[in-house]
Amino acid sequence: MPGVKQEWTPESWRDREARHLPEYEDAAALAQAEQTLRSYPPLVFAGEARALKADLAEVAAGDAFLLQGGDCAESFAEFHPNNIRDTFRVILQMAVVLTFAGKMPVVKVGRMAGQFAKPRSSATETIGDVTLPSYFGDNVNGIEFTPETRRNDPERMVRAYSQAAATLNLLRAFAGGGYANLRQVHQWTLDFMGRSPWAERFAQTADRIGEALDFMEACGVDPATVPQLQGTSFYTSHEALLLPYEQALTRQDSLTGDWYDTSAHMVWIGDRTRFEGSAHVEFARGIGNPLGVKCGPSLAPDVLLKLLDELNPAREPGRITLISRFGHDKVEQGLPPLVRAVTREGHPVVWSCDPMHGNVVKSDSGFKTRPFDRILSEVRSVFAVHRAEGTHAGGIHIEMTGQDVTECTGGAVAITDERLGDRYHTHCDPRLNNAQSLELAFLIADMLAGEAEQKGGQRQADAA
Ligand code: PEP
Ligand code: CO
Repeated sequence: MPGVKQEWTPESWRDREARHLPEYEDAAALAQAEQTLRSYPPLVFAGEARALKADLAEVAAGDAFLLQGGDCAESFAEFHPNNIRDTFRVILQMAVVLTFAGKMPVVKVGRMAGQFAKPRSSATETIGDVTLPSYFGDNVNGIEFTPETRRNDPERMVRAYSQAAATLNLLRAFAGGGYANLRQVHQWTLDFMGRSPWAERFAQTADRIGEALDFMEACGVDPATVPQLQGTSFYTSHEALLLPYEQALTRQDSLTGDWYDTSAHMVWIGDRTRFEGSAHVEFARGIGNPLGVKCGPSLAPDVLLKLLDELNPAREPGRITLISRFGHDKVEQGLPPLVRAVTREGHPVVWSCDPMHGNVVKSDSGFKTRPFDRILSEVRSVFAVHRAEGTHAGGIHIEMTGQDVTECTGGAVAITDERLGDRYHTHCDPRLNNAQSLELAFLIADMLAGEAEQKGGQRQADAA
């Protein structure tokens, strides 16, 4: 019956149109893997997802900033404690710079501990005269171009779960066990500055952070006396693409009776699976987690509004993060109509900017890359749009790693087309390396400082 919503269950998505889901040849093996996952512990608790939602409500209100980042695709091959540590470290460094500049808390969310499955524009890949299924992420098949590795194997979901559990365990230890000490994080940034050709450009901000820490210490506020300065909160997220996996980890919260996808604190719906009638939207609407929605050039304002009504009928702040990903040359035109529609209808959302997915180019050397300048330019345009519309540029969503890879061109140590092959390790899209990520944070800091100044001025005017 039109207008009457069918009841939601963790598997009601199965009656809808599911795009970008792998087909498994062996139904019994799939059922077995799902059963195994159902018997495993949740990775996160509902209460934690609610805490993130509360933090994101602050972002929606304009009083905090969201920093979301990590691999395009986590892989079994790159699974190593040092990789987890280094990505975590750069995210913390970025967060300190952004907190200082924006004068507001930064909510830290990793694209980590579950970001495996990838939507692909083509179901098959051809090299020479051989055509094989595309690589759909390590929880589905393998990247190596052979018929055996490209076969979809449900057992991979169980391995991905184990990797996510171990990653999350280490992240929790880093966040709470003293590694995230504020002084220490700033010292890493100073060490980085010592090597950066753009050190002068960032010196003022870094010096002022150092002075603020000195001042706090002189007042007796230091990590030894204030435990909060020793630790931080850190959340996990991924695209809820592989629905059999997500469903198997969806559990009913004993406190509230609500359903939560316990595979991560936050999950998002990709640009290719947010269409009307989508199985992915159906799944997401019934879980209590904070949700991201990727918003690309093909999204019409009225479709977005319908989506918001479906995903957040109660208009709960912090529930929805809209992640715009237009491309540096399309955002100025494409974003304002969405912002206006959402503002007009009074939907409380976090506006985040993914400056990565609309800025992919093929380099002369044949690598998929993203020029640093275009990434920065999209972020600048997004800030300009929100300033003009009177909305809060609430966050960024980036593909990055703590490793010294050569995947995106540009940055202070300008990575050139010719050098892309040196350390091009990504399993999917090109990521910002450790230096480029921190450089981006320093450059965004200027924009956030501008926003903070404007807000300060507004407060003074209101008080006068
Ligand atoms: C992604 O974030 O990895 C992704 C596939 O993005 P989008 O859905 O925006 O294309
Ligand atoms: Co990507």
